[in-house]
Amino acid sequence: MSWLRLPARRPRLTPGLEQRIRRSFDDASRDEEHFPSTIDPRIYHVKLLMEHLGDLAGKRVLDVGCGKGRFARLFQERYPDAEVWGLDISEEMLKFVPAGIHTRAGSMTALPFEDAAFDAAYATESLEHAVEIDAAVREMCRVVKPGGRIAIIDKNAEHFGRLKTPEWEKWFTRKELERLLAKHCRHVSSRFISYWEDVEPDGLFLAWMAQK
Ligand SMILES: C[S@@+](CC[C@H](N)C(=O)[O-])C[C@H]1O[C@@H](n2cnc3c(N)ncnc32)[C@H](O)[C@@H]1O
Repeated sequence: MSWLRLPARRPRLTPGLEQRIRRSFDDASRDEEHFPSTIDPRIYHVKLLMEHLGDLAGKRVLDVGCGKGRFARLFQERYPDAEVWGLDISEEMLKFVPAGIHTRAGSMTALPFEDAAFDAAYATESLEHAVEIDAAVREMCRVVKPGGRIAIIDKNAEHFGRLKTPEWEKWFTRKELERLLAKHCRHVSSRFISYWEDVEPDGLFLAWMAQK
C-alpha cells in the first residue's frame, strides 16, 4: 500500500464566516478611533513585545493580524534594517500600513510563508478573531525559526462579556494558550498586563511569551 501525501487539511469555518469577518474589518478600517493606526510607544504592550522578542536588528519579524500596523511601525522605527512584515485578512486595514513594512493579505490560520521564515512573530488582539485558534497558533509557531520568539497579547476569558464583541470573538485563559503554545515551543509563560507598567493589571489583558 502506498501512502498519499495529502495537502494539510484546513478545518472548515462556518460557510461564509471568514468572508464576514474580513468584510467587518474592511468596514472597521474607516473607524480610526477604535482601530487606530498608531500606538503610544510608552504603552506597556509595546515594551513587553520589544523586550520579549529581543534584538531584531537585521532580522525578519511578522505581525500576525497586523491591522493598520500600529505595532509594526514601531518595530520598523526601532530596527530600520529589520525586515518587518504585516499579515492581515483585511486588505483595507493593510492600506494603512506604512511604506517600508512588507504586507501580505491572508489568514493567520494558513500563513502564506515558508516554515522558519521569521526570527520572531507576534499577534496583538488578533488571535481572538481567528476562530480556528489551534491552527492559528500552530501557524505562528511554524513560520518562526527554532530558537525564535513568539508573543501573543489578547484578552482573558474570565472577563468575557466586559466588552461588546462580535459573535466569532474568543478570549483565552492563561492555561489554554499556554497549552497550545507548548505543543510547538520549548519555553512558554504568560502574565497579566495593563497599558501602563506602573498600573496594577485589572485582569483584562494577558500576554503569552514563547520560545520555539
Ligand atoms: C482588533 S484588530 C487588531 C489589529 C492589530 N493587531 C493592532 O493591535 O492594532 C484585529 C485584526 O485581526 C485581523 N484578523 C481577523 N481575523 C484574521 C485572520 N483570520 N487572519 C488574519 N488577520 C485577521 C483583522 O482584520 C484586524 O485587522
